[in-house]
Amino acid sequence: MIASLKRADNLATMAPAARKAEAALTFDHVTVRFDDYTAVADASITVGDGEFVSIVGPTGCGKSTLLNVAAGLLEPTAGDISVYGKSLEGLNRQAGYLFQADALMPWRTALSNVTAGLEYRRMAPKDAEELGRKWLARVGLNGHHERFPHQLSGGMRKRVALAQTLIMDPKIILMDEPFSALDVQTRVLMENELLALWMADKKSVMFITHDLEEAISLSDRVIILSAGPGTHPIAEFVIDLPRPRDVSEVRMTPRFVELHHHIWETMREEVLKAYERNQHKLAD
Ligand SMILES: Nc1ncnc2c1ncn2[C@@H]1O[C@H](COP(=O)(O)OP(=O)(O)O)[C@@H](O)[C@H]1O
Ligand SMILES: [Mg+2]
Repeated sequence: MIASLKRADNLATMAPAARKAEAALTFDHVTVRFDDYTAVADASITVGDGEFVSIVGPTGCGKSTLLNVAAGLLEPTAGDISVYGKSLEGLNRQAGYLFQADALMPWRTALSNVTAGLEYRRMAPKDAEELGRKWLARVGLNGHHERFPHQLSGGMRKRVALAQTLIMDPKIILMDEPFSALDVQTRVLMENELLALWMADKKSVMFITHDLEEAISLSDRVIILSAGPGTHPIAEFVIDLPRPRDVSEVRMTPRFVELHHHIWETMREEVLKAYERNQHKLAD
């Protein structure tokens, strides 16, 4: 029943003017050049308010570049990025980030890592600590408050990082392959954790991954990028799997398999292109 898949073939047909005001993030014909290398070319992407959107593309295609644009860490060479309808200048203060690498401060305990951002906001220490304890409990780390990052497993450190991001109550969360360094079992636990937290207070999420299965099991919408150079979205798919979802269970359902098959057909060509290009690079 492939015909029943809701697929928006062209992002430009989504009436950007009408969506712009309510969208959390709008990439409007964004191009990013590094010297004479065009990483991203004419990319238009929206992340709706409260929507969970995954951006999938082969390694090296420009995913982190797009995320850095959304974070306000990188200014596009051409085009515009807006946040809730307002053109972004400087850092995106409505967004929190979660990167692949651990960003925890090794000299601070789990609790004081989680409350670090609140200190910068000058919240009274007692209130910050109370909120920090609440968040550590929410990510399943009761009883680990006083541990230092090196005393925690990879999954636990990821939970601390998640609490550190969410305690700031950002409207938008930007995630760049946050779970890719975790073992498969821990990863599934973290993905379910993330979905539960997201369901509780519907943040707008831009989730970067090279893993199509992860993207489908988490998202409302999956956007596929072309291989670089000149990366841009080539297709997007609405993921109509029911929620709440258990990411390991949902992957066994016929609908998931069907979606995966259909989206992979689109992606495969781009992955092969990227692979061939890398082979050439290695041969040079
Ligand atoms: N600061 C930079 N200077 C020059 N080239 C860069 C820079 N950042 C990224 N690139 C290049 O842009 C392309 C996309 O990189 P990136 O966004 O990190 O890809 P991905 O996250 O999809 O793996 C790569 O070819 C990379 O080498
Ligand atoms: Mg990257």
